[in-house]
Amino acid sequence: MRKIGILTGGVDCPGLNSVIRAVVRKAMDEGYVVTGIKNGWNGLIENDMRVLDLRVTSGILDRGGTILGTSRIIPPLEPEKIALIKENFKRNGIDALIAVGGEDTLKIALSLYKEEGLPVVGVPKSIDNALSGTDYAFGFDTAVNIATECIDRLHTTAESHHRIMVIEVMGLHTGWIAVEAGIAGGAHYTLIPEHLVQIESVCDSIRNRHRHGKTFSIIVVSEGTQIEGYERRVGDHSLSESPRVGNVGELIANLIEEKTGYETRVSVLGHIQRGGTPTAYDRIIGTRFGFKAVELIVENKFGKMVSLHDNKIKYVDIEDAVRKRKTVDRELYETAKVFFG
Ligand code: F6P
Repeated sequence: MRKIGILTGGVDCPGLNSVIRAVVRKAMDEGYVVTGIKNGWNGLIENDMRVLDLRVTSGILDRGGTILGTSRIIPPLEPEKIALIKENFKRNGIDALIAVGGEDTLKIALSLYKEEGLPVVGVPKSIDNALSGTDYAFGFDTAVNIATECIDRLHTTAESHHRIMVIEVMGLHTGWIAVEAGIAGGAHYTLIPEHLVQIESVCDSIRNRHRHGKTFSIIVVSEGTQIEGYERRVGDHSLSESPRVGNVGELIANLIEEKTGYETRVSVLGHIQRGGTPTAYDRIIGTRFGFKAVELIVENKFGKMVSLHDNKIKYVDIEDAVRKRKTVDRELYETAKVFFG
């Protein structure tokens, strides 16, 4: 029987299990067996895998994280690791591989396809929604919903105490979570990595609200945002050798309090945005992506990433998805700005 391997790589997010479940169901319908590779690319390097069937993948649809485990590897892979991947691919009789992940995982998938000729299909996962070539990656909707709920909760306490509440959300290079959660949660200012921030402009908005009797404000900020005059080095994905970047909320809160004199607090949402149950939307696109990935394998279409365009499941070249990050849509940010100040 022909065999499909599946791995989940990079940081986790809700919806990964929906993809795994859909891949197994569809692959079995098409007459394949599925092997689940443990802990991302490490499982292929270390030959750590297990059979996935309907029993193993039953009851996982609503579970956050990934039943396969994951690991973070920044490309490029060392030649000896590539050799091990190729060896274990062959040894386990894997005919095609589905790599579920974000930018880093898909860059490795691309090089294995292009340089080594391995038959790989990608599935886009990104809570940051930063992958090009698809309207949405799964995981993002859940993150936005969690951040929105947190903003709602912080709203009421900010209002009662007449405070400025700074809410730091994830988003190292792109501000999608901040902008969408900011619009949904009624933020009075949203700061994103795509725009260098002038702190005086934020303070002016807050002062303006006070003049109109609004003695509280909600400021949403992406973790990778830069403030003019206070630029920080934003490391690549906060891996061990890079400084973590989760301090911008505190910096902004301190500056606002210092410059306006208004009492200011900061909440860093962090990994809460990546944990727990996926939304219905993420379960649905995860399931649709999983089905499509198997279809591409059946049709011998490799080096592709499944994608979403105008609510239709399509596919693009992985190369096009990872070439450039998808930054926040200008029109969307303009919508958010209407509510600033
Ligand atoms: O890329 C997804 C993401 O959640 C970013 O938004 C965040 O900066 C990073 O991963 C955090 O990574 P880690 O879980 O390794 O701290």
